[in-house]
Amino acid sequence: MQTSTYQSRGRRLAYAEAGAGEPLLLLHAFPLSKEMWEPQLAALAGSYRCLAPDFPGFGDSEPPAGPIGEDSGMSGLAADAVALLDHLGVGRAVVCGLSMGGYAALALCEACPERVRALVLADTRSGADAPEAREKRLATAREVEEKGSGVLVESMIPRLLGAGTLEGRPELRQWVERWIAAASPAGVAAAQRGMAARPDRGTVLAGLRAPVLILVGEEDVLTPPEESRRMQREAPGSELAVLPGAGHLSNLEQPEAFNRALGGFLARLPP
Ligand code: MLT
Repeated sequence: MQTSTYQSRGRRLAYAEAGAGEPLLLLHAFPLSKEMWEPQLAALAGSYRCLAPDFPGFGDSEPPAGPIGEDSGMSGLAADAVALLDHLGVGRAVVCGLSMGGYAALALCEACPERVRALVLADTRSGADAPEAREKRLATAREVEEKGSGVLVESMIPRLLGAGTLEGRPELRQWVERWIAAASPAGVAAAQRGMAARPDRGTVLAGLRAPVLILVGEEDVLTPPEESRRMQREAPGSELAVLPGAGHLSNLEQPEAFNRALGGFLARLPP
């Protein structure tokens, strides 16, 4: 994966770029990195300019500095993604986010809808967290700051991956375990606090004047298919594909089905 860097909000951030053509911005899940988009870069770089940034503190990007501020939540991640488009001179892109990447994608739609050629929301939700979920995130942020990101591995793996993947794809499980452990505690803590603070963006989705595709793994327990159906009702004219045999990380667990749905949607976009 060819990695380059750019500056956003005073930090050096990394991104991968592959292919040429219509820009496709791929925003990663928590607590992973741009590496998770490898199967999409491999399949789509022949026809699209794939851009996959690392959010602060993940992959090769510098961690966020200091306490979380007003713009350090999902809006901050959206600002980092827009800064990448600016850095590359890209006006509009198809914006695709999985889970936390989807929260950031919706924040980007809110801040600059004119930069969004089309939106792909995978294994995510438009709503805010319930109070208990918010409390749990804040406790996790503190725990990771004390003990390191490795403490997340045991609890997250069974929620990130579907049953079939856990049984049949030990190599994928190992990659995901390594990615989680490699995330910087500062990045993980800031992302948890940022996700806890995010507002409901259902009205952003409802008001977006761009084509929308919603994807979800049939076995996703973190953002189950009901959440995707709710988003489909919010986004008039949106398409929904439920991917059998996939949990939360549907793009990694069922890459061919994910790429078929995404590739078909991209090919059908109006000029
Ligand atoms: C993710 O995959 O990005 C996270 O599971 C999102 C979340 O914790 O809500």
